[in-house]
Parts: sequence; C-alpha cells; structure tokens
Amino acid sequence: MVFVFGSVNVDLVCRVATIPRPGETVLSARYEQLFGGKGANQAVAAARAGGAAVCLAGAVGDDELGERSRAALSGEGIDVGSLATTGERTGCAFITIDADGENAITVASGANLEARADAADPALFREDAVLVLQMEVPLAESLAAAERMRAAGGRVVVNLAPVPAGLRREDLRRLLAACSVLVVNETELAAAAALAGLSGETPAALAGALGAGYALAVIATLGGDGVLLADAPGTIETLPALAVDVVDTTGAGDTFVGVFASGLAAGLALPQAARRAVAAASLACRKVGAQTAMPFAAEIDAALSAP
Ligand code: RIB
Ligand code: NA
Repeated sequence: MVFVFGSVNVDLVCRVATIPRPGETVLSARYEQLFGGKGANQAVAAARAGGAAVCLAGAVGDDELGERSRAALSGEGIDVGSLATTGERTGCAFITIDADGENAITVASGANLEARADAADPALFREDAVLVLQMEVPLAESLAAAERMRAAGGRVVVNLAPVPAGLRREDLRRLLAACSVLVVNETELAAAAALAGLSGETPAALAGALGAGYALAVIATLGGDGVLLADAPGTIETLPALAVDVVDTTGAGDTFVGVFASGLAAGLALPQAARRAVAAASLACRKVGAQTAMPFAAEIDAALSAP
C-alpha cells in the first residue's frame, strides 16, 4: 500500500516566452486550471502505475476547489478517507512555464498548512506500507508521520521538495533517520548535503556521502540526464531518461516519486522500481500540467520495452 501524506493544490498555469524577472510583466494568452500539489500528484502517479492501493492524507479547504480536488482524486481510485477538510482555502499554485518547458512556481499553501499526521487513519501506519512525503505540509507533521511509520515497520520515501525554508540540521537528521529512500533533485541534494555537513564534487559523490552517512538509499533526479541511484555503499548507478519532446517538466519529479513508491509497494527491488519511475517521469513531460501527462501502467510498460 502507498500512503502519501502531503499537499493538494489547484494549479493556475501560464505559458510564457520567458519567466518574468522581479519588476517585469509578461503576457500570456490564457491560463489553465489543473489539479496539482506535490502530494496529490505523487498519489495520482502511483495510482495510475497500478500494482498497489494508494491513499492520500492531507487537507483541502471547505470550498469548491477542495470538493473538486477530492472528487478528482477519488476518480483516480485513490482512497481520500484521510483527506481532511479545513476552514482555510484549498492550496493554489501559480505556475509559469517558459518556451523550454522549465517552470517557476509560487504556492499559496492555505489548507495544506492544516495537514496533521494524527488525523490520518492509524491503520495506515503498518509494515507493508510505503509512506511518501514531500515538503509542502508542515515539517513537524511530516516528521511525526515518518517516525510513526518507521516504528510500525513500514518504509518511508522522502522527497525533499521544496527544501523547507530555514530547515534545521537537527530536523534534517531526524527526517533522514526515519527515511528509507531520499529522492532529491540536484539543488535539493546540494542543500541537504551542505546542511548535513557533507561535501563532494559531484552529485554522485554527494548522493553517496548522504546515503552512507544516514544508512539510506539516495536517488538524485537530474532532469533530462535521468537519475543517479546510490543504493548500497560505494555503488552508484545511472538510469537514463527517455528521449521525449519536452513541453512541460512540471510534475516530472512527482511522477518519478509516485511510480517509484508504487513499484516498491508492489514488491519491486529498488533499481527496478526506479527504472519504471524514470520512464514514467519522462513521459509526463509531454503535456502542459502535472497530472495531465502522467502515464498509466500500460504506457510505462510499452515505453520500457520499446527498442
Ligand atoms: O511539483 C509540481 C507541483 O508543485 C505543482 O502541481 C504545484 O501544485 C506545486 O505544488
Ligand atoms: Na507535464
């Protein structure tokens, strides 16, 4: 079972030639309103990948966007029984995408700040569960969920995205101590390693040092260069991305995390789960939006078996 504890947002997405600099105004012909939020995205990616049941705990607002988000998640086959409704507004992300498919995102957290680990069904903390965390809900709650899952014997996948502002070394240490697999992009990897007091010249060296230092597996996502997998001490594997026409990379990291967690929960070994997840993340870059291009199991399998 995949248990995602995290954020739910509605994404307002604009395509622009160039992402505006401070003080600049740029025009875009229209915006799209799409379902997003790193937690919800990862849950959707996991559900579409098949192989394991998925539930999402967190919070949406008592408003129309909250209702619609809940219904959409439920329509994906995700158990939303532990998704709370609060008085704050549903989270909203303001996203601009440039001509190269790169993005800049501002999140109005709203209801996500009301997500509480102990509001989730206690039965979700169990040995056969893979807990998936990202950093768009309060860190104290993510820490509580991680430690509770580890105590119950389940695994914990931490996606350190975004790196919490003002993250303290002690909190990072606690998070990593409860973590089985850390998934980070290059920036997050550098930030985590620096905070942990580790150094290294390359992403591979940093991933290896973090993995060895905290006895966990580290996966560094490198965009079009695929991912680095530091699984056991001294071994670094590179898994290449698929060649696709990139329209929008928003949600590619979330797709990786969700599909990876679903593979682990379904019993795949770490490298096999990561290989599936890289393929899925590549496919997710072909359309505007985070969840719009997330593939289903059959598309992932077809991409993996293509010559
Ligand atoms: O990772 C992409 C997501 O980040 C978007 O869907 C947006 O909601 C922000 O949370
Ligand atoms: Na996309």
